[in-house]
Amino acid sequence: MKQYYIILFLLIISISSSAQEQLLHNVYHRESTSLNGMWKYIVDPYENGFYNYRYEPFENQENPGKSAFFRNAKQESKTELLEYNFDKSDSMSIPGDWNSQKEKLYYYEGTVWFKKSFNYNIKKEDNRVFIHFGASNYETDVYFNGKKLGKHIGGFTPFNFEITHLLKEKDNFIVVKVDNKRKKESVPTLNTDWWNYGGITRDVKLIETASTFVSDYFIQLDKNDIHKINGQIQLNGNDISSKEVLVKIPELKISKTIKSDKNGVVNFKFSSKKIKYWSDESPYLYEVLVSTNEDKIKDKIGFRSIKTAGSSILLNGKKIFLKGISIHEESPIRGGRGYSKEDSKKLLNWAKELGCNYVRLAHYPHNEHMVRLADEMGILVWEENPVYWTISWKNKTTYKNAKNQLAEVISRDKNRASVIIWSMANETPTSDARNIFLTNLANFTKKQDPTRLISAALEQSDYKDSKTVRTINDDFANVVDVLSFNQYIGWYDGLPKKSEKITWKIDQNKPVLISEFGAGAKKDFHADKNTRWSEEFQEEVYLKTLKMLNKIEQLQGFSPWILVDFKSPRRVLPEIQDGYNRKGLISEKGEKKKAFFVLQEFYNSKK
Ligand code: GCU
Repeated sequence: MKQYYIILFLLIISISSSAQEQLLHNVYHRESTSLNGMWKYIVDPYENGFYNYRYEPFENQENPGKSAFFRNAKQESKTELLEYNFDKSDSMSIPGDWNSQKEKLYYYEGTVWFKKSFNYNIKKEDNRVFIHFGASNYETDVYFNGKKLGKHIGGFTPFNFEITHLLKEKDNFIVVKVDNKRKKESVPTLNTDWWNYGGITRDVKLIETASTFVSDYFIQLDKNDIHKINGQIQLNGNDISSKEVLVKIPELKISKTIKSDKNGVVNFKFSSKKIKYWSDESPYLYEVLVSTNEDKIKDKIGFRSIKTAGSSILLNGKKIFLKGISIHEESPIRGGRGYSKEDSKKLLNWAKELGCNYVRLAHYPHNEHMVRLADEMGILVWEENPVYWTISWKNKTTYKNAKNQLAEVISRDKNRASVIIWSMANETPTSDARNIFLTNLANFTKKQDPTRLISAALEQSDYKDSKTVRTINDDFANVVDVLSFNQYIGWYDGLPKKSEKITWKIDQNKPVLISEFGAGAKKDFHADKNTRWSEEFQEEVYLKTLKMLNKIEQLQGFSPWILVDFKSPRRVLPEIQDGYNRKGLISEKGEKKKAFFVLQEFYNSKK
């Protein structure tokens, strides 16, 4: 078994490092300097800063990694031709999307260049320094002191670059090109039902480490023995073999020094009969310390097991019903893309108030505060890869992109007890190419992380030619651990009363989660229960749907669509939608609709 874990861990490291520079794990507990704040920006719809007038990239012409916009724009001489100037340009607050900060950029999809200058005193002679982005949507090119550091593709996962070799004490400057144009071959693709918030949308930090440091670790309860804790640790640096690594879990009186192998990897197994297991009712987190003679990092990790048995989901061996809600990553405080601890607290406190022990973070990885807070609050989490609707299934670059985004969120959140499900996709039309794409993603995920469950939000259909029996007719249903599907009977499919006539024929002996159901309602629009967009109509859809779905024998939970009204360019009905998808149980102003209390009562009565 030990051999298996070594292979597993090397896989994790090799894949994450080949995807980008090796992702620094647990940045929130590392020595760091925030670069959050006001950054200069220049809007560049024709990408003049990247291409010459013949649309050839500057980068390939002169020295690699140069672009017209990265020069520090200090007019070197009065004869020099410069047609832009960062220092005289406008600023915006980072982290933060540009759409919700700048009226002129409300619908903007294209390139914006950002610049931040700073001085930096390295704390110790041979320390190393990295720049770390929590996320940037969608395609990001990063330059530092005139050199190209690299590119990241994907709008919802972290990435970092080492800058040690380029760092100066004074006048460092970072230039970042962010392009949020939607493309057919991207992940997600052209069409989504959410706002395409562009920009540097999460925290930016400078992280200083020892020359050889603990860059990654995976410490979890053994999947097959709840009295065992398995761990793999990766060192990063020039001197990583035969290093003494001390692992401590003080409260379990575990303290062990282990020597790293030639790859800088340490594997360990601890036994303890005293582990307090993490659960929704008792979200117990242990302090875990990993240190070498140069570096020390701490984390708070919950130990729990999550499995399926037939149609049950077992948390620590006990059957659990997932009382959930779907959430988009929008700030309930400022609007726009959410990113802060305060945003996460407000959203998860509403979920708790609703009676939830589970949330579906739709349709892409949310910021790290969400999962760390879920760990503390005892909320189980479904995390999702943005393989949404009509992805370019046959495009190899699209698959590599989807796989890399999955690798990055697994790398970031693999030690979070709250995360129990990795979702491969949402509402993707079945086809051979799609089945191959998703099955490969699922196999990759199982290799990266054999400790969690795989699912995807599938679609339902008529059972044979019946008009009153629904089923899941999808080959990918044979691959997932948990069978999940979206259904909108009563909204997109007939009126609320229709739910009374529908029965469900689910042949798979697997746990069933309804990943979406719901209806739109404009807060404070009141009418009879058959008047669409009224709160009463939404309330009726919830009443009828809960009754219908509760009859499904394998039902183990829901995550209705959705906690809060959210912005979408697809929702333009004047006086009702006005750019918002209105299926929230709470309005964008934080006002609860009548259906909120229907679901709350159902969950509070659910044992
Ligand atoms: C779909 C989709 C959501 C969308 C919702 C809706 O199921 O998964 O992203 O917002 O339906 O139409 O409101």
